Amino acid sequence: MKPRKLKANIYWVGAVDWDRRLFDELIPLPDGTSYNAYLVKGGEKTALIDTVDPSMTNVLIDNLNHLEVKNIDYVIANHAEQDHSGSLPQILKLYPTAMVVATPKCKDLLMNLLLIPESKIIPVEDRETLSLGDKTLEFIHFPWVHWPETMLSYLREDKVLLSCDLFGSHFATSDLYVIDEATVYDAAKRYYAEIMMPFRTVIQGNLKKIEDLQIDVIAPSHGPIYDKPEFILEAYRDWVYTPPKNIVVLPYVSMHGSTKKMVEYFVSALVERGVTVKQFDLAKTDIGKLAIALVDAATIVIGSPTVLVGPHPNVVYAVYLANALRPKLKFASIIGSYGWGGKMVEQIKGILSNLKVELLEPVITRGFPKEENLKALDKLADEILDKHKEHNLID
Ligand code: FEO
Repeated sequence: MKPRKLKANIYWVGAVDWDRRLFDELIPLPDGTSYNAYLVKGGEKTALIDTVDPSMTNVLIDNLNHLEVKNIDYVIANHAEQDHSGSLPQILKLYPTAMVVATPKCKDLLMNLLLIPESKIIPVEDRETLSLGDKTLEFIHFPWVHWPETMLSYLREDKVLLSCDLFGSHFATSDLYVIDEATVYDAAKRYYAEIMMPFRTVIQGNLKKIEDLQIDVIAPSHGPIYDKPEFILEAYRDWVYTPPKNIVVLPYVSMHGSTKKMVEYFVSALVERGVTVKQFDLAKTDIGKLAIALVDAATIVIGSPTVLVGPHPNVVYAVYLANALRPKLKFASIIGSYGWGGKMVEQIKGILSNLKVELLEPVITRGFPKEENLKALDKLADEILDKHKEHNLID
């Protein structure tokens, strides 16, 4: 795709990666992604905001050629991760007088990850400004979205916030701006869940730094641009600040039907009590869907059989992920089965160590669930409802 104009002398010059299906060899990308870079031509100086993934350097260079960019004075590196900084070495070769602008921590990372010489990097402090002539860039240190060195760049005169990974979405589209809000909402929520949620409490504090900015446009590093910024700001306020909702997330695996029977019974019991349930068969599910569900849930109940004396490996993976993502969960429990013994419950509890949750009494059956086991599931459903009521999580 060719360069796209955002405002006078501000252009999107990034690359759309329609076909990428995995990020960090871990995160599914059902809708591809984009690596957004922006060219800002001031009256006196020209700045390139971020670069693109090294696999698409040629696209960025084509875009710069298309705009007949003869000189770049500054490359602003909001983030050192390679999907944004990976083309820096080639850009510095093409524009040898360009200087890189970054936070001090980013400077250190760029030197180590990409071997950029120290003499090529200008470190900037929080709220420092850089004049391009008739346009002013203000740098806002915003650590942990989602690395320690990240910053946002704000174009004061044009009121454009170049927000790095913050507010982004892995969503390949030919639309420069958000057109279909419902689709982008889902993609942005998936992105938040997988990338930003572990740093939710830090983001809570840092969002205050942009509360007073006048923002016409939010231009993130992935996905379409927000020309109605309130859409994504409001979504983040909900995801970051508001208490969890009356929802149970239930990831499970069943090998021979015992745990499955418990899950079916338990889901019905919760629904009868007015609790929303999101059930995921971990043998088949897209782990990103589970991450999205965790954004709003008050309770996680993990369903597992016992395999080689412990939880099923797919359950271990999902619980490890839930623990790493640090969602707003308040309660957790475990349901499942065993044949002759094991330490399934103890091992799952051990993996949940990051989560500040109250653990509700697990329900574990020997073999297929019997009447007393189903009664115990009813009791657990009652307890979850009571806890959600006590914490005012029910509308
Ligand atoms: Fe899109 Fe953290 O890189």
